[in-house]
Amino acid sequence: MSQQKIMREQTSEKSSLSGQLISINRVSKRYDTPSGSFMALREVSLEVRKGEFVAIVGKSGSGKSTLINLITGIDTPSSGKVNVASKAIHALSQEQLAIWRGINVGVIFQFFQLLPTLTVAENVMLPMDFCRTYPARERRERAISLLSKVGIAEQADKLPADLSGGQQQRAAIARALANDPPILVADEPTGNLDSQTSDAVMQLFANLAMEGKTVVMVTHERDLSRYFTRTITLADGSVVTELPAITEVSM
Ligand SMILES: Nc1ncnc2c1ncn2[C@@H]1O[C@H](COP(=O)(O)OP(=O)(O)O)[C@@H](O)[C@H]1O
Ligand SMILES: [Mg+2]
Repeated sequence: MSQQKIMREQTSEKSSLSGQLISINRVSKRYDTPSGSFMALREVSLEVRKGEFVAIVGKSGSGKSTLINLITGIDTPSSGKVNVASKAIHALSQEQLAIWRGINVGVIFQFFQLLPTLTVAENVMLPMDFCRTYPARERRERAISLLSKVGIAEQADKLPADLSGGQQQRAAIARALANDPPILVADEPTGNLDSQTSDAVMQLFANLAMEGKTVVMVTHERDLSRYFTRTITLADGSVVTELPAITEVSM
């Protein structure tokens, strides 16, 4: 299938999204290594609805990154089903997956992962260039407006190395928003930031969730829990507790 055909199909599906945006059904992940095999996830099931801001918490090694790498399609499950944005992503080819991800999921990492030789604006334009979601002549303007949304428009023409950690993470969030995806997935996005900067970045995610983005975030910082609508705790590859935010508890 041509890239353009895949894109047309996936773009037309994006508008029909509602209800459960992420549905994980009895997913297991086994890593086979020379020293033996290791079950990183054991029959995990969970659902995330549109507009939720979900935290995945748990000790180091509990399977948090493995779980969210399955949601973004960066990794594939050993068994079980992963449906994200109405797509059975465990069944997509690498090429289909790359375009699907570019349109449907913005991914944010702990160490920002901006390309060091491109300016901040060029980094934000990359997903638009890759997926051709906006006409070439509109991409820079859109990048600047996203940088302005995250509060760093004046940094647009600098290289990532000239920005502070917090500014680099804001740039990475702008890049994740480039194609206006319904879902944002972040793996410890504040893990490399001081607490004040981390609060500002969390507030940015919370605002995006209030605007209707669905946000799934791995964090091990317990004091951030006030931001989330729900917290899912993993231990040894299994979901052990699922706590809704206090405001959502029904009698
Ligand atoms: N590529 C891999 N190969 C082998 N084992 C892995 C791989 N990735 C993760 N693991 C193991 O799976 C477990 C869960 O890892 P991970 O999902 O990264 O945990 P967390 O993000 O919660 O710290 C860990 O024990 C880790 O060592
Ligand atoms: Mg991790």
